[in-house]
Amino acid sequence: MSDTELNLARTGGHSVSRVLFSAEQIAQRVREIGAEITEAYPRDEELLVLGTLKGSFIFLSDLVRSINRPMEVDFLVASSYGSGTTSSGQVNLLYETPASIEGKHVVLVEDIVDSGTTLNRLIPLLRGRNIKSLEICALLHKHIATDLAQEPRWLGFDCPLEFVIGYGLDHSEFYRNLPFIGVIDP
Ligand code: PRP
Repeated sequence: MSDTELNLARTGGHSVSRVLFSAEQIAQRVREIGAEITEAYPRDEELLVLGTLKGSFIFLSDLVRSINRPMEVDFLVASSYGSGTTSSGQVNLLYETPASIEGKHVVLVEDIVDSGTTLNRLIPLLRGRNIKSLEICALLHKHIATDLAQEPRWLGFDCPLEFVIGYGLDHSEFYRNLPFIGVIDP
């Protein structure tokens, strides 16, 4: 870990035991995914990239700048973890996009697929809105969700079964500002 990474990592009260994905690795992968999304849809059809707050806010902001075509951006606010480190199993939808999504290609952007609870709540909701297509783009995937309603078409990295923070992901709301993804000591 570099000095900068170490200093940033101390801000949340725990220590970051290791860096899983560096800022450079993430940037490279985000560029690749952005290029793939750019090519995936006909130019004359409408694309809406929908991020899940808060965790995806940094991934989404980097991703949309790597997508070179007309598109809209909006968010859903779904929250399930509270202040703990394990999912509560319930997903609260605090905000739903007011944008008209009917007839559009929707890319739902998640920072991490963990238990799959969040996606399993959002996917039927979006499918019920008469959209043209739905794809999932996730930065991290733990591959432990056994009944995932839809697998991500675009995935940044496979994620180990540890509590990961940084690049938008939090522990009790801290660490979201870290430019890398790391693991904190329990
Ligand atoms: C986290 C994360 C994902 C979700 C993944 O969000 O950002 O959205 O959990 O977990 P799951 O697959 O088990 O549902 P969280 O509820 O912590 O809210 P946040 O994005 O505001 O941090």
